[in-house]
Amino acid sequence: MEPIKVGLLGLGVVGGGTWNVLRRNAEEIGRRAGRQIEIVRVAVRDVAKARAKVGADVQITDDAFEVVRDPQIDIVVELIGGVTLARELLLEAIAHGKHVVTANKALLAMHGTEIFEAASRKGVMITFEAAVAGGIPIIKAIREGLTANRIEWVAGIINGTTNYILSEMRTNKLTFAQALQQAQQLGYAEADPTADIQGIDAAQKLTLLASMAFGIPVQFSKAYIEGITQLSDEDLETAQYLGYRIKLLGITRRRAQGIELRVHPTLVPANSILANVEDAMNAVLVNGDAVGQTLYYGKGAGEEPTASAVVADLIDVTRLHTADPGQRVPHLAFQPDAMADIPI
Ligand code: NDP
Ligand code: HSE
Repeated sequence: MEPIKVGLLGLGVVGGGTWNVLRRNAEEIGRRAGRQIEIVRVAVRDVAKARAKVGADVQITDDAFEVVRDPQIDIVVELIGGVTLARELLLEAIAHGKHVVTANKALLAMHGTEIFEAASRKGVMITFEAAVAGGIPIIKAIREGLTANRIEWVAGIINGTTNYILSEMRTNKLTFAQALQQAQQLGYAEADPTADIQGIDAAQKLTLLASMAFGIPVQFSKAYIEGITQLSDEDLETAQYLGYRIKLLGITRRRAQGIELRVHPTLVPANSILANVEDAMNAVLVNGDAVGQTLYYGKGAGEEPTASAVVADLIDVTRLHTADPGQRVPHLAFQPDAMADIPI
């Protein structure tokens, strides 16, 4: 069977990781997907830099619209980031009948409902496993593994950069600025790390988790958000003295009045699981009425951990598209259910 054709938008930290994983594990990936997955076009700003990485057999352009409109492409992978251009590109890709894989939580938190509805109308899939908690398959866990449950709450560490900063400040006595700089060098931080340190990135992810867990529309504007910029060394030391650690948690739960969404620094007992999640690791606890608490732990940011989630989505989409190219596959898209009218 012909390879499925992919257009890759962005070849930075995550795009580069996606390229590497697809190349390195091509044989296994092809077997699992049922056919080879081939990146045929790449869009970047700096074509010469990209050419050095991908070689001569892939077309490279600095006009991402060329890629999303290209009739040979079946799946568009958006790893550019940002909101305005990414929204236009995704809507254009959907209008041209492409399935979409994205890691862009900022975009989905702002415009998820519009994008998911457009995908649903067009009968294409949009998947976003990499947008929440990097390499941890938390979207799949909620959508598939826990689907029998009434989920009561979801809580955890869902920003790698801030967890890295807090860990380094506490254990290696780095200053906030030093730790942030290292997180940027390691590829954990957003292009503008303000979103990380102010808790915005975690709130974007929490909004997506709440959508999946409770079947509600994406409502980022309803989240309470407090980042880590006001924390000092003394705060971390005092917490430690009292037998706690400070972690930036995202918490969403059902309340009588509606769904609560909040991100803020939190004192957690030093011997608890979340307190011992260090470095850029993420950990998410989900409480379902049938299963009780389940815990998901792993690398929440960085090149190949995030690429792992992007490529898993690519395999899913390839399988489903190949099984029946004309079939609508709504379960991969966000579908508000009967709880959509819950006030937040
Ligand atoms: P990078 O900044 O490393 O890469 C961005 C890429 O997009 C670069 O290749 C850049 O091109 C390209 N690009 C930017 N603007 C344009 C444009 N106008 N036209 C064409 N190409 C463009 O970002 P990341 O890889 O870190 O992040 C990508 C996405 O993944 C973001 O949405 C981010 O939130 C998300 N994400 C990131 C994670 C991480 O650990 N870094 C983890 C989970 C999600 P050029 O190389 O030429 O500059
Ligand atoms: N900047 C994000 C983080 C990347 O640090 O968690 C992963 O989404």
